Amino acid sequence: MWQELQPGDPQVIGPYRIRGQLGVGGMGRVFLGLSEGGRPVAVKVVRADLAADPEFRTRFRREITVARKVSSQFTAPVLDADVDGPAPWLATAFVAGPSLADAVSQHGPLPVRAVLELAAGLAEGLRAIHAAGIVHRDLKPSNVLLAPDGPRVIDFGISRAVEASALTHTGMVVGSPGFMSPEQAEGGEVGPPTDIFSLGAVLAYAATGEGPFGSGAYSGVMRAAGAPNSPGSCRNVWVIGSGSQPATGSTAAVSARSSRAVGRWPGSLARHRSISGRTSAGTRSRLAGLCTTR
Ligand SMILES: Nc1ncnc2c1ncn2[C@@H]1O[C@H](COP(=O)(O)OP(=O)(O)OP(=O)(O)O)[C@@H](O)[C@H]1O
Ligand SMILES: [Mg+2]
Repeated sequence: MWQELQPGDPQVIGPYRIRGQLGVGGMGRVFLGLSEGGRPVAVKVVRADLAADPEFRTRFRREITVARKVSSQFTAPVLDADVDGPAPWLATAFVAGPSLADAVSQHGPLPVRAVLELAAGLAEGLRAIHAAGIVHRDLKPSNVLLAPDGPRVIDFGISRAVEASALTHTGMVVGSPGFMSPEQAEGGEVGPPTDIFSLGAVLAYAATGEGPFGSGAYSGVMRAAGAPNSPGSCRNVWVIGSGSQPATGSTAAVSARSSRAVGRWPGSLARHRSISGRTSAGTRSRLAGLCTTR
């Protein structure tokens, strides 16, 4: 869902009429907009300090050019962007459903079958991202949206632009400690296996309500990296995601393993569908109101 616009908020960004604020993240604010044809979009507006950094803009342009080539039923398509304006922005298709982070914090962990369906969808989305030559770099529960017909991966690749800026100015690595691979946390070379590691952590979160490494600073989180501290099904899910070692495995292997495993868990409820269905029904009716009053 979204909040009403406040005085001083933008009314128009590029070709989009802005109708609410979806949230605030590390890169800036995200607004709900309507396209000229009345389609809802999510418009991410970059923070002023990042916008002031030419290195950020160069990277942002490069990452968006590639991100626009990604095509999958499990990713939210990048629709438009303005890299050169005073406040750069990026528009993606609006996904009518909660983030995995919101779904789990409000309704608790998902049952194993739903987690495996999630795994299959996310792996397919990641495969398309990797096929375009992108490493997501920031796969985490808030970057997974649960649409009624399956998950959507968002924010792929763009954290690289923030990272380029942060590395230049502060020497800091960008990412989310509880979901980040060791090589990324240590500032090493990242590649598709980095995302597979994060996928395992995201799935463990979906299954248990907690990331496998807990939360907190990098060192404590990563000390646990070789031995996830969550028991039982969580560990199995983590292994499905990550292979037996961190930062190994492939999206194809995850898809195959999860699809096989889904087949072995017949009869359990795909709770994610009902949660997503309920939430997005509310979102859709609010959207319909917006579209008719425009
Ligand atoms: N395409 C989209 N459709 C619907 N909601 C979206 C979309 N893109 C982003 N959002 C929502 O906008 C909010 C802010 O997203 P944002 O990516 O800025 O924050 P974040 O993922 O929590 O943090 P980070 O900056 O580290 O990625 C989130 O609640 C997210 O669910
Ligand atoms: Mg995000």
